[in-house]
Amino acid sequence: MELTVFTLFLSGVIVTSAASFCDTTATSTASPQAAPKLPQIPSVFQTRIELNIVDKNTTVDVLQYFDYDGNRVRIDTLKDAIQGSIIYSFDTAEIFYVTNGFCSVGMINSSMAMSLFGEMKDDGRWHVLDSSYALKFGSSYNETYMGQDSIRGIFVNHWRSCYKWPGGNLTYSIDYYFSVDGAWNTSSSFVSVPVRAEVMGPGRAGPIHHLYDFFNFMPSLPDDVTSVFETPKGVICPGRINTGRLPQIPSQFYYRVEIISEIVNFVTTYDVWYDEKYKLIRTDYRPMTSAPPTYNTNPLTEIQDFNGGVRYLSDNTYGNCSVLSLPSQSFGAAENMTAMKTNGSFVLHIKNPLQLFKLDSNFTYVGKRKCRQMLCVVFSAKRPYLVEGMGMANATIEFYFLDDAFTNYPNNGRAATRDVPVMMTIDIDDVDFHQAMNFMDFDGNHPDLSVFDVSSCFSQSAKVHFKVRFPGML
Ligand SMILES: *[C@@H]1O[C@H](CO)[C@@H](O)[C@H](O)[C@H]1NC(C)=O
Ligand SMILES: *[C@@H]1O[C@H](CO)[C@@H](O)[C@H](O)[C@H]1NC(C)=O
Ligand SMILES: *[C@@H]1O[C@H](CO)[C@@H](O)[C@H](O)[C@H]1NC(C)=O
Ligand SMILES: *[C@@H]1O[C@H](CO)[C@@H](O)[C@H](O)[C@H]1NC(C)=O
Ligand SMILES: *[C@@H]1O[C@H](CO)[C@@H](O)[C@H](O)[C@H]1NC(C)=O
Ligand SMILES: *[C@@H]1O[C@H](CO)[C@@H](O)[C@H](O)[C@H]1NC(C)=O
Ligand SMILES: *[C@@H]1O[C@H](CO)[C@@H](O)[C@H](O)[C@H]1NC(C)=O
Ligand SMILES: *[C@@H]1O[C@H](CO)[C@@H](O)[C@H](O)[C@H]1NC(C)=O
Ligand SMILES: *[C@@H]1O[C@H](CO)[C@@H](O)[C@H](O)[C@H]1NC(C)=O
Ligand SMILES: *[C@@H]1O[C@H](CO)[C@@H](O)[C@H](O)[C@H]1NC(C)=O
Repeated sequence: MELTVFTLFLSGVIVTSAASFCDTTATSTASPQAAPKLPQIPSVFQTRIELNIVDKNTTVDVLQYFDYDGNRVRIDTLKDAIQGSIIYSFDTAEIFYVTNGFCSVGMINSSMAMSLFGEMKDDGRWHVLDSSYALKFGSSYNETYMGQDSIRGIFVNHWRSCYKWPGGNLTYSIDYYFSVDGAWNTSSSFVSVPVRAEVMGPGRAGPIHHLYDFFNFMPSLPDDVTSVFETPKGVICPGRINTGRLPQIPSQFYYRVEIISEIVNFVTTYDVWYDEKYKLIRTDYRPMTSAPPTYNTNPLTEIQDFNGGVRYLSDNTYGNCSVLSLPSQSFGAAENMTAMKTNGSFVLHIKNPLQLFKLDSNFTYVGKRKCRQMLCVVFSAKRPYLVEGMGMANATIEFYFLDDAFTNYPNNGRAATRDVPVMMTIDIDDVDFHQAMNFMDFDGNHPDLSVFDVSSCFSQSAKVHFKVRFPGML
């Protein structure tokens, strides 16, 4: 990866030329007494940079977020029409390189990444270097004041320093231009912002010449900062360190789910009651096409009874009901692969809660994100997924659980519950499939047994009425 700001600046480190690119004394026209104070660089900033690699006739657009206090750095680049992001995760000592939706994981302790942004603290943890190192500017760089100038029409102070790449004999000149405090009004509350940095020095194929033009320099991070330093939505980083525990799903629950497909523009809702102990599942839904077994699109109540392998389908418009056997592809059914392997028989059983939510894979914690005006913890996995009419495909599944900062108060059920599923997204890149499911009213208590009442599926003649009399006095 040669995309970061200062990786580019140092991309040609192996070189034989020992020519000096740096001469601060000869060109300085300003007297040292006239030198203003060095501008401060905020510990938190975001900036756009147009990086012109003059020696390669190339422009790279850069967006950099820097957060010393939060120990986080992110750099977005656009180069040769390729969008890239580099996210430094100092807490896990990882770097995520995301290019066109694909992610690879690097170690932060590799020498290049470390000397760019990171250092080892006394407690053995990685921490981002302070912002003056990130910009290679500040008193430790022995800047010489070169006088005032004008860059892009902006009144600036000019400093020059010689930067010796650690461990080598290579010297680079860095010219920094900061807007003049008091003589130029910046767009932000910060009185003196970097306007340009110009780097010259030896490179692998001749001298390098890089121009960094800073725009939109702001001493703050975006308002919605939660996801800035997380890997982007829908991106799986294989092999990243898992720092979170997948929440427990209770073995009985009710929820309503809203299913949204942005590709074919539909939205539909399901109600689901599930009880692993009773081996019963009820779903209320509307079929999207007139297909077997009902051949219409009337709203249905379907009760799957895994005690007897029976499926009760009742039509909520006409009130009629069909009793069918459970097909293997039905919502709550899983095949018993052990039985299939041992004696070749085809045995269905009720899906466990993880299977029902497609969570029976190795899900990795990816961070916190906004989800429907709430805050969620997000887990992701790449796993096989059955798409109707398409068969099995490898899908990226992201599962959002309510963050502990929020408490859920379902309007039914007895108690407030935690670890509440809020949302799931399914993406299949190859076939342009994207679906989102919003879970609502999640309630982790046993549903009332009357929910699974199938008496309407039996005629009066199939019913037996009886009375029980208890002797004694009240
Ligand atoms: C950059 O453009 C100039 C002018 O067309 C050309 O002379 C030079 O060789 C180019 N350099 C590279 C690295 O392509
Ligand atoms: C970085 O850390 C990993 C794991 O802790 C270790 O295996 C590797 O040798 C380290 N690399 C460097 C350059 O220190
Ligand atoms: C700055 O100057 C001091 C004293 O001359 C020197 O020790 C130090 O290495 C210099 N720093 C850099 C970054 O050149
Ligand atoms: C630095 O330059 C000196 C003298 O030219 C040479 O002896 C030494 O090996 C060089 N060091 C490195 C790391 O290149
Ligand atoms: C900067 O803005 C302030 C307030 O609007 C104004 O008083 C001041 O003259 C401006 N400075 C310059 C250099 O234009
Ligand atoms: C209910 O009756 C209608 C009309 O006869 C039929 O098309 C439909 O399939 C039946 N639905 C169920 C669930 O039995
Ligand atoms: C699957 O079948 C095996 C024996 O064939 C049985 O021991 C196991 O309990 C079954 N699993 C489930 C979930 O029913
Ligand atoms: C195969 O195993 C399953 C689960 O143990 C059992 O229910 C079924 O009766 C067995 N089938 C045969 C043909 O033995
Ligand atoms: C999860 O990861 C473990 C260890 O890497 C592996 O043994 C297991 O098969 C994986 N499970 C799934 C469902 O992929
Ligand atoms: C899913 O990915 C795995 C591993 O990359 C591959 O072996 C498998 O064939 C893929 N399955 C489908 C349906 O594309």
